[in-house]
Parts: sequence; C-alpha cells; structure tokens
Amino acid sequence: MNARTDLSAQAINVLETEHRNIEVILETLESLQKGKPDWGIYERAIALLEEYADKYHHAKEEDLLFPAMIEAGIPERNSPVSCMLEEHKLARSLVAQMNDHLSHMDAAAMREASGHYCTLLREHIAKEDNILYPMALQVIAPDGWRTLATKFIEVEERLGGGEDFMRRAKALRRRAHKG
Ligand SMILES: [Fe+2]
Repeated sequence: MNARTDLSAQAINVLETEHRNIEVILETLESLQKGKPDWGIYERAIALLEEYADKYHHAKEEDLLFPAMIEAGIPERNSPVSCMLEEHKLARSLVAQMNDHLSHMDAAAMREASGHYCTLLREHIAKEDNILYPMALQVIAPDGWRTLATKFIEVEERLGGGEDFMRRAKALRRRAHKG
C-alpha cells in the first residue's frame, strides 16, 4: 500500500465510521415514529445529533474535507460540495425545529420533523459515501491527505474521541427499542 492509499483510506474511514454512528441515532429516532412519544429519548437523541452529527462530523467535513476538495479544483458553487453544504444547513434547521417541538411537546410536529430529518440524513450519507468521498479520493493529492489525516486527529483530541458518543448512542437505541 503506498502512502497515498494508506492516508486517504484512513481519513475517509474516519468519516464513514462516523456515518455508521449517526445511523444509530437515526434508528433511535425512527423507532419513536409509532406509539406514545418518549420525550426523554427525543431530548437525548437531539443532543447527540447536535454534538456528534453537527459539531463533530459535519464540522470536520465543512472545515477540512470540503475546503480541501475546493482547493483541489471542485467548484465552490453549483457543485457536489455546495449541495452537501446546503443539506447540512437543512439538517441543522430541522434539528432546531425538533428542539422547538420538544419544548412544546408537540408530538405530531416532532414526528414530522424527525421523519424528514431521518430521510434527509440517510440520503445525504449515501451521497457522501458513494459520490462525494470517491470524488475526494480522486482529486485530493497525497499531501492534502496527510494534512487531513493529521487535522482529523486534532479535532478528535479537541472534542474528545467518538467512542463516548457511540456508547451513549447505542445505550439510547437500546432504550428506544425496549419502549
Ligand atoms: Fe457526512
């Protein structure tokens, strides 16, 4: 394995693993679509989305991967990168809506926003895994991957590793599935 393959695979693997972790939170939200709403689970799931999906994962893409792709020649506007950024914005606005519905304990509105969020994120993750990341692997040079791999580690050191998020996400999914 040459240096490029090794470092690029390492960096993309970090992001793909985070997608699998976000899917655990999505499964939790999806299991709340039927029956009486469990507001405690909603509250914790939304907090995990804010902390993990938004600050931890999307920030890594927005601050590091996407700029590296633009630097490597992917257009800033009307491109797969700008499309992913728009979807991140929409995801954040849906999380804000869910927080609002949580504070009013509005079950119907919560189900609608949460369902919309899960559909958006599942489609978004598929686009990144199947289109955007392979594109990044094509355009970013070995030096770029070296920088990204190092900066991803810095983000993890600054925000704490993903294991704690994962443990909390899995515990919450178990709780939701029991309900
Ligand atoms: Fe992503």
